[in-house]
Amino acid sequence: MSSKLTDEQLMIQSMVREFSREVLSQTAAERDRTKEFPAENLQQMAELGLLGMMVPPEYDGAGSDTVGYVLALSEIAYSCASTAVVMSVHNSIVCESILKFGSEHQKQTYLKELAAGKYIGAFALTEPQAGSDPVSQYTTAVQDGDHYIINGTKRFITTGKNAGLVIVTAKTDPELKHKGISAFLVSKDNPGMKAGALEDKMGLRASDTVDLIFDDCRVPAGDRLGSEGDGFKIAMTGLDGGRIGIAAQSVGVAQAALDASVTYAQEREQFNRKISKFQGLRWMFADMATEIEAARQLMLSAAAMKDNGQKHTMQASMAKLFASEMVNRITAKAIQIHGGYGFTKEYPVERFYRDARVFTIYEGTSEIQRVVISNNIFNDKRKP
Ligand code: CAA
Repeated sequence: MSSKLTDEQLMIQSMVREFSREVLSQTAAERDRTKEFPAENLQQMAELGLLGMMVPPEYDGAGSDTVGYVLALSEIAYSCASTAVVMSVHNSIVCESILKFGSEHQKQTYLKELAAGKYIGAFALTEPQAGSDPVSQYTTAVQDGDHYIINGTKRFITTGKNAGLVIVTAKTDPELKHKGISAFLVSKDNPGMKAGALEDKMGLRASDTVDLIFDDCRVPAGDRLGSEGDGFKIAMTGLDGGRIGIAAQSVGVAQAALDASVTYAQEREQFNRKISKFQGLRWMFADMATEIEAARQLMLSAAAMKDNGQKHTMQASMAKLFASEMVNRITAKAIQIHGGYGFTKEYPVERFYRDARVFTIYEGTSEIQRVVISNNIFNDKRKP
């Protein structure tokens, strides 16, 4: 695998691996317990260039390609999946959408600050009644002179409480279905946007997930991202990249679960032998390692397609589908290998198991990934 990577990609991987294992891993279990947002670590990550990874240097980013980025994201997820999802939404969806669809003014003001890590970005598409089917969203944006007035509620917004800037989708023309959805950049200090209570989640507990409530939220027309009616396309394009990011997050957590299990199996003795000597477990390890490598290759191949400017919607969904289901199998096996200890907080695998559970749900459920993949196979826009 590594022979295909460039020197720069390998350098990024080893630099982030060192940071992740020496710094991030120290507090991940504690943050899982306290739900404390990893603000300090994100600041350190900003200094390493990890918050504007694919943003070109002219907008204060690191100018990495997507392959380098997913390698870095996997390494962050290896130690702390909560930090990884914050990094993923910020880079894959928020920075990438502004880079691709933003005006020069938006790039100069928001993208530069995001890339420098002055604040974190969030993406608000989902609503209480519109999850898998975002076209059915109810949030509206009505033009009023040189402003839009946004009203509605967004749900399950990653970093919604701690973000400095949110990309929000809203209907500018409810008659036009997906073509009536537009996207807006709303800053944290806008008095019309309020965060609701923190969700008390099973995993990813240090990443805040909240409702965002828009109550006559006035946004300057200059902060509309793209043209009126571009919002759904912007969201879907962002999710193409985001889904490769969730594959990377899955690979990182799965590798951590495998490595923890290898260490355990080489220490734990039963029947006067290390349990790593039992063939039943060795075959389990062989299958785990093979599945992780398969997911890694799907992730790298989708990322390389994006870097080559090829359409990668289907490959991003394949990588996300396979990797997110794979990590759920791997973390369950990791607990099995650890036996009763795996069920306790003394070992990290119970956290990995809880963190991984949402990967088959957010940024499009496994069922939605299958809709995207089959639509691309038949190319007939078959509806769910
Ligand atoms: N890129 C660009 N454009 C795209 C696109 C893509 N990947 N996918 C669709 N489009 C365009 C289509 O070309 C079409 O445009 P035209 O009519 O102009 O040709 C338009 O969008 C509508 O396409 P569809 O008819 O295929 O749309 P649909 O309503 O049937 O829905 C769907 C398609 C795949 C089911 C989509 O609704 C979907 O992805 N749903 C899941 C939503 C999701 O992933 N939510 C995650 C929330 S964010 C999150 O979880 C982040 C977080 O906090 C961690």
